[in-house]
Amino acid sequence: MPKDVFYVTTPIYYPNDVPHIGHAYTTVATDFVARYHRLRGEEAFFLTGTDEHGKKVPQAARDQGLEPQEFVDRMEPRWREVWERLDVAYDDYIRTTEPRHEKAVTKLLTAVYENGRDDIYLGTYEGLYCVSCEAYYTEDELVNGLCPIHASPVEAVSEENYFFRLSAYQDRLLEHYEAHPEAVEPEARRNEVLSTIKGGLRDFSISRTSFAWGVPLPWDPKHVCYVWFDALTNYVTAAGYAEDPARFERMWPADVHFIGKDILRFHAIYWPAMLMAAGVEPPRQVWAHGFLLVGGEKMSKTRLTGIHPFELVDHFGVDAYRYYFLREIQFGQDGSFSWESMVARYNADLANDLGNLASRVLAMLDQYVGGRVPQPPRTHGPEVRLAEAARGAAAEYDERVLAMDLTGGLAAVWGCVGEVNRYLVEVAPWALAKDQARRAELEACLYASAEALRIIAVMISPVMPRAAARLWEQLGIDSALEDQRLPEAASWGAIAPGTRVRRGDALFPRLEG
Ligand code: ME8
Ligand code: MG
Repeated sequence: MPKDVFYVTTPIYYPNDVPHIGHAYTTVATDFVARYHRLRGEEAFFLTGTDEHGKKVPQAARDQGLEPQEFVDRMEPRWREVWERLDVAYDDYIRTTEPRHEKAVTKLLTAVYENGRDDIYLGTYEGLYCVSCEAYYTEDELVNGLCPIHASPVEAVSEENYFFRLSAYQDRLLEHYEAHPEAVEPEARRNEVLSTIKGGLRDFSISRTSFAWGVPLPWDPKHVCYVWFDALTNYVTAAGYAEDPARFERMWPADVHFIGKDILRFHAIYWPAMLMAAGVEPPRQVWAHGFLLVGGEKMSKTRLTGIHPFELVDHFGVDAYRYYFLREIQFGQDGSFSWESMVARYNADLANDLGNLASRVLAMLDQYVGGRVPQPPRTHGPEVRLAEAARGAAAEYDERVLAMDLTGGLAAVWGCVGEVNRYLVEVAPWALAKDQARRAELEACLYASAEALRIIAVMISPVMPRAAARLWEQLGIDSALEDQRLPEAASWGAIAPGTRVRRGDALFPRLEG
C-alpha cells in the first residue's frame, strides 16, 4: 500500500514542567495545519506527546519523593489538559515510557548496531559529574563553576558510552538535502543546517550507565539509551515501526516535523542520519519556527518568563488565542508576545472586522427580510465582487498554507472579511431598505453577504473551530460544518434561499484591555 496519510508531528515535550505559550505555539500551529489538510479532504495524522526519559526525570522525581514513573504519570496530564482546552485535535499521544516505544527504540538500535558498518561503537564520554546528583553537567549548566543544585564542586569524570557514528553521514546528508531542499524549512534554517554539516560532524553519545531510567541497549543492558536517540524515535514508534509494518508503510516518512529552531540540529542532522543507518527513509520535512520572545528574550520556564496558556485563554478565549499567535507572528520568524498587542489584534480583527460583520449581516437579515436568506439575484450586480473575493481568498489561503506561510494564509482570509465590510459600506443596505423600489438590490446584497459569511466560516474553521461552529449555527445552515471541504465549499451560491438564520451572542465581544 503506498503512503497516503499526511503525517505531522510536534516535538515531544519534557514533562518536568508545565507547558508555556512557547510549547503551545508549536502545538497550535501543528493542529491548524492538520485541520487544514483534513478540510482539504486529506487523511491527516497528528502526533504529539511527552519525552519522559533522561537524567532530569529521576532527579525531579526524587526531589518530590516520587518514583520516576509516578512523577511522569502526575505531570503528563498537565500537558494534555492544555491541549484539550486549546482544541488541539491530535490523533495520537505518545509517552516515551510506553511499551510500544521501548519496542521501537530496541528495533531501531538493533538495526543500526547490526548494519555491518560499526555505526554504533563503545567509546569514552568525558564530562563534569556531580556525585550528589549522580548526573553530568555541561560547562554552561554550572553556576560559578559549581553544581547548580548543590553548589558543590563537580568532578571531571569519564564514562564508557556507546556512540553513534554521525561523522560517517556527512556526505549522505549533504546529498539528501541537495536532492530535497524542501526537507528543511525555512531557508535560513536550511542554510544553518548545511553549514553545520559542511563544518564536519562529531559522533554523539547514545547511552549512559550512570542512571537506569530509559530503554536498555539490547546488546549491553547495563547501558540505557540516552535522550536524543530515544526521543527522536517516537516519530517512528507511533507510525507502527516495531509493531505494524503495513501501517508503517502507509504512514512513513512523516510529512512534517514541526519544531522550534532550538532543536533543529537534532531533527535535521541526527535524525535523518539515524534513519539512514537503520535503512529507513528520512522525514520529508523538518519545519523549524522561531522563538516567542517576552520582553525581548526567549521565553522559558528556567528564566521564569514562562506564561501558562490558561492565563491568556481565560481572558481572550480559545479561538482568539489560536488566531493571535498564528496571525501576529510571521510563521518562521521570532516574535514578541505582549498583552497589549493581543488586545489590539483581538479588537481589530475579531471584535471589529469579523464579529461586527457577522452580527450586522445577521441583524439585517432579521430586520429586513424576515430572518430568511433571500433568493439570489437573477442578474449580477455589484455583489459579484464578493464572489470574486471569496474565490480569490480561498485560493490564496490554500497556496499560502501549503507553503507554510500560515500568517499570510490567515491574512488572505481577513482580506476577504475586509472586502465584505467595504462592500457593505458602499452598497449601504440600510439605505436600500428604506426604498421599496430597491428591494431586489437589498436582497441581492443580503444574499451575497450571508453567502460570504458561509465561506468565511469554513475558511476559519481550522484556526478557530469554535467560532466557526457558532457562526455556522447562526447562519442556520443544514449540512454539518465538519462535512465541508475546500475548495468545493468556497464555490459561490451554495447557501439555500429560505435558510432561517439564528442570531446569537456576539462572536467576539469587544475587550477593554
Ligand atoms: O526539546 N518559542 O522538549 P522541550 C517557541 N523533549 N517555541 C518554543 C519556545 C519558545 N520560547 N519554548 C519552547 C525538547 N518551544 C525535547 C524534544 S523531540 C523528539 C524532543 C517549543 O519541552 C518549540 O517547539 O524543551 C521547542 O522546539 C520545544 O518547545 C522544546 O520543548
Ligand atoms: Mg527545551
